[in-house]
Amino acid sequence: MKHYNFYWIILLLAFPVQIFAQGKPVQQKKRKYGFRPELVRGPYLQMATPQSMMLRWRTDEPDFSQVRYGTRPGQLDKISGDKRLVREHMVTLSGLKPNTRYYYLLEGAKDTLQGDSSNYFMTLPLTGDRELYRIGVFGDCGNNSTNQRSTRDQFEKYLGNNPLRAWILLGDNAYSFGKDNEYQSNFFNIYKDNLLKKAPLFPAPGNHDYHDEPYSATYAQESKEVAYYQNFSMPQEGESGGVPSHTAAFYSFDIGNVHFLSLDSHGTEDQNSRLFDTLGRQVQWVKKDLEANKNKEWVVAYWHHPPYSMGSHNSDTEDQMVKIRENFIQILERYGVDLILCGHSHSYERSALMQGHYGMEQTFDPKKHVVHAGGAMGKPANTYMKDAANKGTVYVLSGSAGQLGGSQTSFPHDAMVFSDVTHGGSCILEFEGNKLVSKWICADGVIRDQFIIQKPAK
Ligand SMILES: [Fe+2]
Repeated sequence: MKHYNFYWIILLLAFPVQIFAQGKPVQQKKRKYGFRPELVRGPYLQMATPQSMMLRWRTDEPDFSQVRYGTRPGQLDKISGDKRLVREHMVTLSGLKPNTRYYYLLEGAKDTLQGDSSNYFMTLPLTGDRELYRIGVFGDCGNNSTNQRSTRDQFEKYLGNNPLRAWILLGDNAYSFGKDNEYQSNFFNIYKDNLLKKAPLFPAPGNHDYHDEPYSATYAQESKEVAYYQNFSMPQEGESGGVPSHTAAFYSFDIGNVHFLSLDSHGTEDQNSRLFDTLGRQVQWVKKDLEANKNKEWVVAYWHHPPYSMGSHNSDTEDQMVKIRENFIQILERYGVDLILCGHSHSYERSALMQGHYGMEQTFDPKKHVVHAGGAMGKPANTYMKDAANKGTVYVLSGSAGQLGGSQTSFPHDAMVFSDVTHGGSCILEFEGNKLVSKWICADGVIRDQFIIQKPAK
């Protein structure tokens, strides 16, 4: 009898321990043998073209990389991918129809990792096609702040169910050093439920993506130590239009009648040249690309360091910004680039249609440098007319999609016609034929600036 009591006591003591321990050992066992890998990053869309789309995602354990897809949500009748066991998954769907919505589902060895009616994307339109294209522009976004989330929410609210044809990043995408874990918490986790799943991403790097090293000591472009280059796949061989750059650091692409150049203003190129060294590899490629795309109705260039700012950075005193303004932008202006988008300062600063101002702020003279001050017969005051000569560029600094604030004593910069350092936000560009409408959607949902560029009818 004594023995039986002893066994009961042991059993009762052990029972609660078993209950509390139940979930964990089983889960650990699953993980240990890789039975049920879980989706930890993505999916996100890369290298979009009219006929193809790359889907990338990450799992916590090695798994198959398979995508089921089709043009109807309940009928994913095609499959692409492979059965190699990897954690970083990259699958390119090819042979797709241009300008068409596809639904998709990610499939591992055992499970569907993700796939419901919100997993869809649109292939790009054919180069030259003209309809309404919406492009999202986020600068200095990745700091895991309330401002980042509110900016995202208000942008998504404005967009509604309309397709976002490209999602542009102006650099400093993950603070503070662009490390993989920072990309995870400050970028991928924040945008995973909507934008990453649906909108093809075309990023540019900022100084923080290069570990915030001073530019004199920064990493080489495409450095393996820079997570930006591990995380993103670029159309560097002209897959999406444009002249092949053969590097992920800078590249170009077309969205219908709009040509885009994504540039790198921080990493070092061959022979240590940079964006402001006009004999460097990047500038030589920019010239070739602009020459080959002179026939495009619209040309937009974007990179991180702005030529004009008196926000959190000073374009009169900071070397990179001074040199980009003095040496580089005249090349773009010569080719009639319509719009230049930058970040770096954590503000919104926007010019009129201007040209030829390469000096310090005090040398800016609207009579000399403004090509069109806005307004025309029957047009709103902020409508900029470009004539057949295609002269003039609007400069937009939009660097408050996450970070916010900071200004120089001479804020606002004299070349800017609208400046705001107190509200966060992002931009949406709406191209429709010969008209571009750009709106700054703030983190509280208010559109505080918008302008139009109008070109001659085709
Ligand atoms: Fe920056």
